[in-house]
Amino acid sequence: MSELFKKSLSKENPLWLMRQAGRYLPEYQKVRKKQKNFINFCLDVNAATKVTLQPIQRYDLDAAIIFSDILVIPYALGQQVDFKKNEGPILGDFKLSTFKKTQEKEFIKKLKNVYLAIKKTRKLLNKKKSLIGFAGSPWTILVYVLNKKSPKKSQVYKEILKNTKQTKELLKIIEKFIYIHIEQQIKAGADTIQLFDSWAGLLEKKHHDFFCFQPTKRIIKKIKKKYPRVPIICFPKGIGKKVVDFCNVVKPDGLSIDSKIDVNLILKKIDKKITIQGGMDPKYLNSKKKLMEKKIYFYLNKFKSRNYIFNLGHGVPKETSPSTVHKLVKVVRSFS
Ligand code: CP3
Repeated sequence: MSELFKKSLSKENPLWLMRQAGRYLPEYQKVRKKQKNFINFCLDVNAATKVTLQPIQRYDLDAAIIFSDILVIPYALGQQVDFKKNEGPILGDFKLSTFKKTQEKEFIKKLKNVYLAIKKTRKLLNKKKSLIGFAGSPWTILVYVLNKKSPKKSQVYKEILKNTKQTKELLKIIEKFIYIHIEQQIKAGADTIQLFDSWAGLLEKKHHDFFCFQPTKRIIKKIKKKYPRVPIICFPKGIGKKVVDFCNVVKPDGLSIDSKIDVNLILKKIDKKITIQGGMDPKYLNSKKKLMEKKIYFYLNKFKSRNYIFNLGHGVPKETSPSTVHKLVKVVRSFS
C-alpha cells in the first residue's frame, strides 16, 4: 500500500494539494516561462520532474503528483490540444477514425516521457513520499474530446450527447486508453492513482450510471486485478448526493470530495473502508488566516474518526500566496 494511504489508515492526516505544482509558485513560473507549448512542457522529462518536486521541496507534503494533464490522452489519440492564456484548453477537430486506428504501442510511445518523468521523480523522491499518477475519467475526457473546450452545462445535452451511437463507441475507446495510461504510470513507479471526473456534475441522474459509474468501475476493476496494492482515488466533482450511489457502484479506495459535498452525508452513508480526501473550498486560501484555520479544523474534526487525507475541494488557485500554503500546512501538521 502507498505511504499516503498507510498514513491515512494510521490517522496521521497526510496532506497534498491538487494543483500543488502550478502558477502560484514563483519557481514554477520560472520554468513555465521557458516553455511555449503546454503539452510539450508536460512531455519534457526534466522540466516535468523539476516542477513535480517543487512543492515537496517547499512544503514537505506527503505526496507528489506527477506534472502532466488529463488532456494528454486526446493528444496521444491524435487530437490537437492547445492551451490559450486565460482561456484554458482548446482542442482541434476530432475524428473517430483516427481514434479507432490508434495502436496501443503508438499511444504509449507518444506519452513515454510522462512515464520517464515518473521514473525519474520516483528516483529523486524520498521513499516515505507517495507519487501519484492520474488520468481523467472517461466521461470527462469524452466531454473535452467532443466539446473541444471546458463545457457549459447547456452544451452537454444539446451538443455533447446528441449522437449517441458515436458517443458510445468513443467512450469505449477512451476507457481502453485511460486504462493503458494508468497501467504505464504504475509500471513507471506511481504508487497511487487519482481519477479526475471534473464534469461528473453535468450529467443528469439517468445518465450517471452509463457515462460515469460503469466506465470508472470497469477501469478500477481491471487495475485492481493486476495491481491490488495501488490505491485508486476518485474525484467525481459536482456529483452532489449521488456520491453515495457512485461509491456503492465504483467502490474506490479513496474518495476526493469537492467543497459542495455534504460532509454529514459522507459520514453517514459512505463505507468506512473508503478513505476520504479533501473538501475545503480553495477560496479560503485567500481569506483571513483565522477563517482559513476554522475551515481546516472543520474538515479535520469531521473526519477525525475516519481515514482522511487533507486536500482541497479543487486545485490551488493561481492567485494564492505561497506563504498561505505554508500556513495551511502548519495548521494541518499541528492538528491532533
Ligand atoms: O499539481 C497538479 O495537480 C498536477 C498537474 C495537473 C495539471 N492538470 C497541470 C496543469 C493535474 C492533476 C491536472 C488535471 C486537470 N487538467 C484537470 C482535472 C482537475 C480539474 O481542474 O478539474 C482538468 C479538467 C484539466 C484540464 C486543464 N488543464 C484545464 C481546464 C486547464 C486550464 C485551466 C487552468 O487552471 O489554467 C489546464 C492547464 C493546466 N494544467 C495548468 C496546470 C499547472 C496551468 C497551465 C499553465 O501553467 O499555464
